[in-house]
Amino acid sequence: MPDQLECFLDESVIQNRVREMALQIREDYGNAHLVLIGVLKGSLFFLADLSRHLGLEVSMDFIQVSSYGMEKSSSGVVQIRKDLDQNIEGKHVLIVEDIVDTGLTLDHLKSLLATRSPKSLKVVSLLSKPEARKFETLVDYLGFEIPNKFVVGYGLDYAERYRNLPYIAILHESA
Ligand code: PRP
Repeated sequence: MPDQLECFLDESVIQNRVREMALQIREDYGNAHLVLIGVLKGSLFFLADLSRHLGLEVSMDFIQVSSYGMEKSSSGVVQIRKDLDQNIEGKHVLIVEDIVDTGLTLDHLKSLLATRSPKSLKVVSLLSKPEARKFETLVDYLGFEIPNKFVVGYGLDYAERYRNLPYIAILHESA
């Protein structure tokens, strides 16, 4: 039997919220140059949509800090697979995440990037699962709090599948 996908956040709900978040960020940063740091691969579509609504002078860089691999739950070990290309010293940096689950990835990432002396360091995440949190970590701009279910779509995968769905769905695995 194929996996069952239950639509949880449809495309228009996501797009409206992303637009609202971008407005809030624009208000807060004014004319400052912003470095968006996309956390690969899940933040791909969120970063693309958010950045186009920002209308600020932005640059983008990418980092890959993965703890999941092909599994559905975190291994608890953070690996840096791809580091930034640019120096962020003295820059306004906004980490762009698709989801904060246990908080391990973000906790690790914030500590790492803070050592590089950015002018400011904040986080925007589309989703957060508060019930799954093991590492307390602050998210400055949050799209949606969601229940502790496995979700896919809009960048989020299960074993590299479903990232290209335009909506977010709860995955009910086949038996
Ligand atoms: C996911 C997600 C976050 C992290 C959140 O990435 O994109 O980066 O897990 O989980 P945590 O709060 O428990 O650390 P993943 O490692 O699955 O890589 P991917 O973005 O390439 O799918």
